[in-house]
Amino acid sequence: MTTARNMSELAGFAIPRLGMGTMALAIEGRPDRDTAIRTIHAGLDAGVRYLDTAWSYYLPSEPGTGTAKDLGYGEKMVRDALASWDGPRDEVLIATKTGYRRTMEVPAFVAPVSDSPESDTQGRDSEGCSRRPGGERQHLQAAGSQYGWMADSRPETMIRDAKESALHLGVDTLDLLYSHGPDPEVAYEDQVGALKQLLDEGVIRYAGISRVDNAQIDTAREMLGDKLVAVQNQFSPSHPDPEHTMEHCAELGLAFVCWSPLGGFLDAFDQRAYDPFRTVAGNHGCSYQRVVLAWELSRYERLFTIPSARNPQEINDSFAATELTLTQDELAMLNASVDARRG
Ligand SMILES: NC(=O)c1ccc[n+]([C@@H]2O[C@H](COP(=O)([O-])OP(=O)(O)OC[C@H]3O[C@@H](n4cnc5c(N)ncnc54)[C@H](OP(=O)(O)O)[C@@H]3O)[C@@H](O)[C@H]2O)c1
Repeated sequence: MTTARNMSELAGFAIPRLGMGTMALAIEGRPDRDTAIRTIHAGLDAGVRYLDTAWSYYLPSEPGTGTAKDLGYGEKMVRDALASWDGPRDEVLIATKTGYRRTMEVPAFVAPVSDSPESDTQGRDSEGCSRRPGGERQHLQAAGSQYGWMADSRPETMIRDAKESALHLGVDTLDLLYSHGPDPEVAYEDQVGALKQLLDEGVIRYAGISRVDNAQIDTAREMLGDKLVAVQNQFSPSHPDPEHTMEHCAELGLAFVCWSPLGGFLDAFDQRAYDPFRTVAGNHGCSYQRVVLAWELSRYERLFTIPSARNPQEINDSFAATELTLTQDELAMLNASVDARRG
């Protein structure tokens, strides 16, 4: 089990700060379902107590038809993995997200280039969503995706999908629900209002927000008070949170949850950002991914990191980051390398 230094509280659970993202087990490139469930079991056996999923983690099963037979695939897989695990299920925090969906076909519309520092040169980020405000409902294809993603954060959609998530996960109340991301067509206050309604109705215990800037964090904090417990933003050596939302979370006492903490797997990223981590990994005789995760944990005592894994070996290797101690010199060198990219 992990040491106290890498434990923290989130949504009423005292848990290790290294959880497990389950997106790679549910979308493009996913392994078969048995392997996926064995991978989740391996994570739980190692000590993972936070599983991250989303209403939108599924693949369209009939491309081009506009229907999806396997809606809820990712959430039902998490439910079944927990049901067939012989450990203490009550210790496991399940977080899901609402307000995004997969597009069923390769999108015809391609948005103009965005100036978002988190997006690639075609204005996309790793879930393929345009960050450009305004205009028609935008959806795009990530470079590594066969299908697109689309924000749909109309309050009625968010509320309906959250209730479906509870059914998929087989629970009466969701432990923690994030709004998946801003929707250029919906006022941010209205998205947060949907979370407030879900809290008031008892559909969710705690709320989180994702893919947000500091102003959106302030809006959510004002509307949700202490029921807002977490911000899930992209953070890794190759995507180092240039808007400094992690520091803002620290000022407010909010948990900061890093998505794509190893750079992600749908899109190419700048591998040179990981060279200093490879050097340190050589000192410790471990994978550079383990060093990346240990370094992330060192950045903020309420930071949670949620790497995906596609097999038991990967999550075992990643979870060992909770036991890896980096020296002050190593941390200083890694911090300097990332901060130079961060601005
Ligand atoms: N809020 C959002 O909008 C948002 C967006 C993206 C992701 N997320 C969340 O963040 C989670 C993680 O992000 P991600 O799936 O994009 O990518 P990631 O965790 O940055 O990268 C995962 C990939 O790295 C490889 N890997 C993992 N552990 C490894 C290890 N110990 N050694 C070597 N390789 C390893 C695996 O790929 P291979 O199997 O190919 O080696 C895995 O699929 C997701 O599951 C999801 O829960 C949220």
